[in-house]
Amino acid sequence: MKTTFSIIKADVGGFPGHSSVHEKLIEVAEKNLSEAKNEGLLIDFHVTHCGDDLELLMTHHRGENNEEIHSLAWNTFTKATEIAKSLGLYGAGQDLLKDAFSGNIRGLGPGVAEMEFTERKSEPLIAFLMDKTEPGAFNLPIFKIFADPFNTAGLVIDPSLHAGFKLEIWDILEHKKVFMDMPEEMYDALALIGAKSRFVIKRVYPKEGGKLPADEPVAVISTEKLYQIAGEYVGKDDPVAAVRAQSGLPALGEVLEGFAFPHLVSGWMRGSHNGPIMPVSVKQARCTRFDGPPRVVAVGFQIKDGKMTGPADLFDDPGFDYTRQKAIEVADYMRRHGPFEPHRLPLADMEYTTLPKVMEKLKGRFKDIE
Ligand code: 13P
Ligand code: 13P
Ligand code: MG
Ligand code: MG
Repeated sequence: MKTTFSIIKADVGGFPGHSSVHEKLIEVAEKNLSEAKNEGLLIDFHVTHCGDDLELLMTHHRGENNEEIHSLAWNTFTKATEIAKSLGLYGAGQDLLKDAFSGNIRGLGPGVAEMEFTERKSEPLIAFLMDKTEPGAFNLPIFKIFADPFNTAGLVIDPSLHAGFKLEIWDILEHKKVFMDMPEEMYDALALIGAKSRFVIKRVYPKEGGKLPADEPVAVISTEKLYQIAGEYVGKDDPVAAVRAQSGLPALGEVLEGFAFPHLVSGWMRGSHNGPIMPVSVKQARCTRFDGPPRVVAVGFQIKDGKMTGPADLFDDPGFDYTRQKAIEVADYMRRHGPFEPHRLPLADMEYTTLPKVMEKLKGRFKDIE
């Protein structure tokens, strides 16, 4: 029987401001999921947070897009929202955009990354959780992990990885997808995914004829676009991803190595600034400096018959101190630009935009240039 790993997440209230999640929200989510486990709906679960996002990590046998699993997540977020409201937490219910659940949580606000797969004898799996950024922030590390031999030595020296992988890339503006083979179509793929606010890697698959089934994903990234759903600013769609590792896939350390460079991502402060993404432990996943800098945590498990052995807090390691130091230097450098691009996002990409109001006020004062 196949196992499904589901990450469903939402910001249902920050403590304080947009920095972190209050422990009472974690507690209520744990209680709700533990009831579902006792009833047999879930095999296992782990509740955690990155910044102000509440993260539900779950295993079950019901496949992707399952109504009962999505409904469980929705009810959990609804209950957590009630607590958030009672404590006056910031932006209580921020990511719950609809009043009622109707079969599937997609389009209702929360982010979802799910994959159903046949478990190998040993199944290492890592959940990556980001705050203060957008789904395209995963393009660079996922590309490096599955397609860059300078990151993943196994692509060169392990015969079971040598054929490469297949990327499923979504055009989130046109709502279309394309499958591209790595390394054969690498340059064309980079032309797309380098434009990370429009083209996002949604899934990674093994190639045909390899060690793993070619129709089962080995990585999946959440791609919900909150501002498109809501038509106005309701919070950045802070993304999550699940990545499987080892035996026929990049080793755990090759997967984590994809995050050793704190690349620039969009979504810092008011969803309107570029800044470096900093890999941190769960304890350090509190977005304080200018509501950031953007963070990523890595929570590792060994999955056995759906049981989640873990979590292992994988960036809680001095091996990432240099990356964090670099991220802080880059954060400081970017901050010195204040309201100037490219720290501030271009007008079209900003989530809060006061420009129309400024232009309205200055109307009549603009004269033709001779
Ligand atoms: P596997 O081929 O078993 O994944 O081992 C590779 C490894 O762990 C090298 O670091
Ligand atoms: P979140 O999307 O994480 O709630 O952050 C919103 C924001 O504007 C932070 O500055
Ligand atoms: Mg928030
Ligand atoms: Mg957030």
